[in-house]
Amino acid sequence: MTGKGAQFISFEGGEGAGKSTQIKRLAARLRAHGQEVVTAREPGGTPDAEALRSLVLGGAPGRWSPREEMLLMYAARAQLVRTVIRPALERGAWVLCDRFADSTLVYQGLAGGVPVADVRALHRLVLGDFNPGLTFILDLEPDQGMQRVHSRAEALNQFEQRDTQFYEKAREAYLRLAREEPERCVVIDAARPPDAVEAQIVDAIQARTGVQL
Ligand code: TMP
Repeated sequence: MTGKGAQFISFEGGEGAGKSTQIKRLAARLRAHGQEVVTAREPGGTPDAEALRSLVLGGAPGRWSPREEMLLMYAARAQLVRTVIRPALERGAWVLCDRFADSTLVYQGLAGGVPVADVRALHRLVLGDFNPGLTFILDLEPDQGMQRVHSRAEALNQFEQRDTQFYEKAREAYLRLAREEPERCVVIDAARPPDAVEAQIVDAIQARTGVQL
């Protein structure tokens, strides 16, 4: 395998779906194959974007309107892409991102009520047609995901304190995006054990890029 397999891969899904576990596993696997891997989470991934993360995730639900959240997410995303993601891809590294633009389409757009056309217009304005080549959507019943979130010893952020209806809408929205873009999006049943989820992720990467992992 060579650096030619360089890929920008995003991981999406509801809270508690296991995205960060899978990113760690895939990063370790790629590195074991001699690949450079850059991982990032959104919002975040640079000191400034992490500061924006605290602003947008902290406080009570409703602190920001969905439209304001969208703007903050895109300020953070623009800097992350400019300073971390594009340079990494240009050097031939793999980039594994814990959430990307689909999160804005789902949380602020389809579940939050900002017209999807507006979210897409902002994306074009800020990032043009820059998007991941492959997106894994870790699909899980919201109740199961929230049980996992509650079992963590961390304080809940404002997105983790919303009502069940919001998470149901978000889940449906991800599945809709996957139907609209089947060549980019792979839906994975995240209720299965982490090893089974990892195996499906590895299979999909092998099938799409031809690289053996
Ligand atoms: P997480 O890192 O634990 O997944 O938390 C990030 C939260 O931010 C999550 O609830 C989804 C939310 N979010 C948005 O609402 N819009 C976005 O564009 C992004 C990247 C995240």
